[in-house]
Formats: sequence, structure tokens, C-alpha cells
Amino acid sequence: MHGPLPPLHHHINPVRMFLAHSCLYAMVLVVITNVTAVEKTCDLIGDKGQESHKESSLLTKLEPLFNQSFETESTNEGEHYIYKFRVCREVSGDMAGLVQINKLNQTRVLGRINETHLTNGSKWILLIYKGGDAYNNHCGNENRKAFVMIICNRKTLKSRLTMVSEEREKLKDCSYIFEFESSLACSPEDLEVASHLSVGSILIITFASLLAVYIIGGFLYQRLLVGAKGMEQFPHCAFWQDLGNLVADGCDFVCRSKPRNVPAAYRGVGDDQLGEESEERDDHLLPM
Ligand SMILES: *[C@@H]1O[C@H](CO)[C@@H](O)[C@H](O)[C@H]1NC(C)=O
Ligand SMILES: *[C@@H]1O[C@H](CO)[C@@H](O)[C@H](O)[C@H]1NC(C)=O
Repeated sequence: MHGPLPPLHHHINPVRMFLAHSCLYAMVLVVITNVTAVEKTCDLIGDKGQESHKESSLLTKLEPLFNQSFETESTNEGEHYIYKFRVCREVSGDMAGLVQINKLNQTRVLGRINETHLTNGSKWILLIYKGGDAYNNHCGNENRKAFVMIICNRKTLKSRLTMVSEEREKLKDCSYIFEFESSLACSPEDLEVASHLSVGSILIITFASLLAVYIIGGFLYQRLLVGAKGMEQFPHCAFWQDLGNLVADGCDFVCRSKPRNVPAAYRGVGDDQLGEESEERDDHLLPM
């Protein structure tokens, strides 16, 4: 018998088995390397589970900034520096979260993400990186540290970073101070004010749309169904004209400084007016 091989033989073909297995191993390997390559992030005081709840909730709040980079320049005592900063991500390896680069391209670490401290008030969040490179001749040769003040600004996720000042005249506890603005530092009430404002603009937009629908719809109705021409095509034309006249009269009454004293010759010559006029003249002619 020389019939075709049963299909089962294809499935246990050793080459195929080998390929399938190596594919599986490759996938497992990729998963393992991804797990071990977890990105370095801010480390607060205390092991997992022993960290302060306030600090860890602030850390969660700042997450939208983790993929942002900040850079600013500043001249300090005649020296020009570039500062690079990231929130809970390394700027240049070695756990550096905020670095200072001088003209010779030498990098000095001002603070590290593995020594992060966080605190907040109603309109700000203060991020502190400690464990920077040690001072040489200042501040008792302690490690440098950087304070970054994040100030509430409803309108932006991140503004430009500014170098505020450097304090190194103290015998110890010196610091570099930076600031930038972000909506993340605003309290829920601040953000509510913003949504109230947008409620106001939504109302205005709704009103404008209704007005447009009224005018256009009314116009089409008058023109196509009633068959009106000219000014008559406006919806409730007579009513709005009356209202206009009424408003004009009101303005005339309220705003005019001199009494209205127009000579008869300048008045319009409608039939009814003529009648009035003749009556007035008649009154004058009456004998006293
Ligand atoms: C933070 O990282 C730096 C550099 O890797 C290391 O020298 C330092 O001991 C670390 N600090 C803490 C508190 O783990
Ligand atoms: C600080 O942040 C926490 C968590 O986001 C918040 O509940 C608290 O109200 C903030 N503190 C102040 C004083 O606004």
C-alpha cells in the first residue's frame, strides 16, 4: 500500500515540534526579561507596605508627569549651567532625578529618585530628591539635595521648569530650589471652579444655538409654508418690530437730556399724525 501519509504524522513531525517549542521558550524569555526590566521609579522612605499613605498617594497623583522631561538654563555666580529634571525617572542613569551640567559638559547629580520625599498643601506639591553628589567645600560636605515646588495652574499639565535659587551658605542642610506649574498640584475644589466656568460657556453656546435654530427655522417656515416676502420672512417679525419700537421709545424717554421738541414740519406725515396735529392747532386757536 502506497497511499498518502496520514495527517497525524504532520503533527508529530520532529522539525515542527522543535520549532513550536523554541517559539514557546522565546515567548517565555521575553515575558521574564520584561518583568525583570521594570523601570526604576521614585523610592519613598520605607519598604513596600510601610510607606506613608500621603506620600504614596501623591506619587500616584504625579504619574502623568513620569514620561515628561524638563530642562532649564541658569547663570549662577558667573557660571552657566543646564539643569535636567524628570519626575520619578532617571535623567542619566545612577538614579539621578535632577542634574546640573556645566560648560565642560560635566554632570553633577543634585538629587536621586531613590531618595524621594513628597508633601503638599492646598495649591502646591513639594518634591524633594536627596542623595545627590557631595559638596566639596560647602555645607559640611553633605550630599546635595533638590527641592522642586509644583504650583497649581489649572490650565497646564506642565509649564517650563525654573531654577529659583541655590542655598549653600548654610553650615548644613543646603538645597537647590526649582519650580514649575501643573494642574496636578491643584485641589479638587480648584478644578471644580474650572468646570463651573465651562458650565457657563456651555449655557451661552446652547442659547446661541437655540437662537440660530429659531431664526433659521422661523425664516424657512415663513418663506416656504406661509409664503412671506422681504422682512416678513423673519419669524414673529411684527412682534420684534414692536419690541424694537418699544425699546427705542424707552431709550428715548430715559436717555434724552432735552425734551423732545421737534418742529411739526420735520415729523412724518402719516394720516393719523396729521389728525393729531390739526387738533393741537385747533386747541391753540381756541379763545382764552
Ligand atoms: C540610591 O542610589 C545611589 C546610586 O545608585 C546609591 O549610591 C544610594 O545608596 C541609593 N540610596 C538609597 C537610599 O538606596
Ligand atoms: C494633599 O494631597 C492629598 C492626596 O492627593 C489630598 O487628599 C489632600 O487634600 C492634599 N492636602 C491639602 C492640604 O490640600
